[in-house]
Amino acid sequence: MLINKIEDVRNQVKEWRKEGLSVGLVPTMGALHEGHLSLIKKAKEACDRVVVSVFVNPIQFGPSEDFDKYPRTLEADTKLCDGEGVDVVFAPTPNEMYGGGRLSNDTLTYVCPPFFYVNKLCGKSRVGHFDGVCTVVLKLFNIVQPDFGFFGQKDAQQVIVIKKMVKDLNVPIEIVQCPIVREESGLALSSRNKYLTEQGKIDALVLSKILNNIKVCYNKGITDVSALKETVYSFLTDKHELEYIEILNRETLEEEKNANKNSIALIACRVEGVRLIDNIYLGE
Ligand code: PAF
Repeated sequence: MLINKIEDVRNQVKEWRKEGLSVGLVPTMGALHEGHLSLIKKAKEACDRVVVSVFVNPIQFGPSEDFDKYPRTLEADTKLCDGEGVDVVFAPTPNEMYGGGRLSNDTLTYVCPPFFYVNKLCGKSRVGHFDGVCTVVLKLFNIVQPDFGFFGQKDAQQVIVIKKMVKDLNVPIEIVQCPIVREESGLALSSRNKYLTEQGKIDALVLSKILNNIKVCYNKGITDVSALKETVYSFLTDKHELEYIEILNRETLEEEKNANKNSIALIACRVEGVRLIDNIYLGE
């Protein structure tokens, strides 16, 4: 069932609650792929009813980012959700979510995650991005009031920031993190892969190759983070614009001198101008 209005999704969830049913929310920006479907499958296993939100959230995009060209494929998304037995696809308009006013923190209440969590990795180049993410996610949580929220490990910093928000603001929702889904080639699935040409997809394999190589080196006993990070340069060509490579604590995003079983290696790199991210746990 496709619902666009906040009031309608609230009423539907209220009905389910009366029947004592548990509810899972899978927040998405649409352009659904197998990665999203894996979140939906997990939600279906864990919950009696599943809501998938499809909303390209304007306030998490910077002024020079791809908000206007971000793929919008609601009809196909709804079909995919129907195929997975999703109970409600909640696809509000920006006006429904934010009203008609100017979208800025002069006029809207924002949820701003702590600087320590966002002054690095994606938050460093995408200033304000996680304010937009936390604001919309908390709004979706308040609208749907699910028991569980499902998020993908590919956006590792996002999951950590959302978990922190949920803990700090006592939001009564359990966050479930699901593993990265990859193409057979190793490329992590992303809605932004749609922007890549066939050659671009091949060039983009550098991200998973770099991460796998770091893990191989770690498994061989190299733990010095600087030495592990140095290994990336032999993979990069003029097709790649590296934004960051970091090895941090996988729960807290703290820097460590030596990698260990709790470390995560994270990369952001542009290929054909498309900003791609990926990560790998070293201890698994
Ligand atoms: O990961 C995403 O697709 C978005 O950041 C989210 C969580 C749906 C919030 O808009």
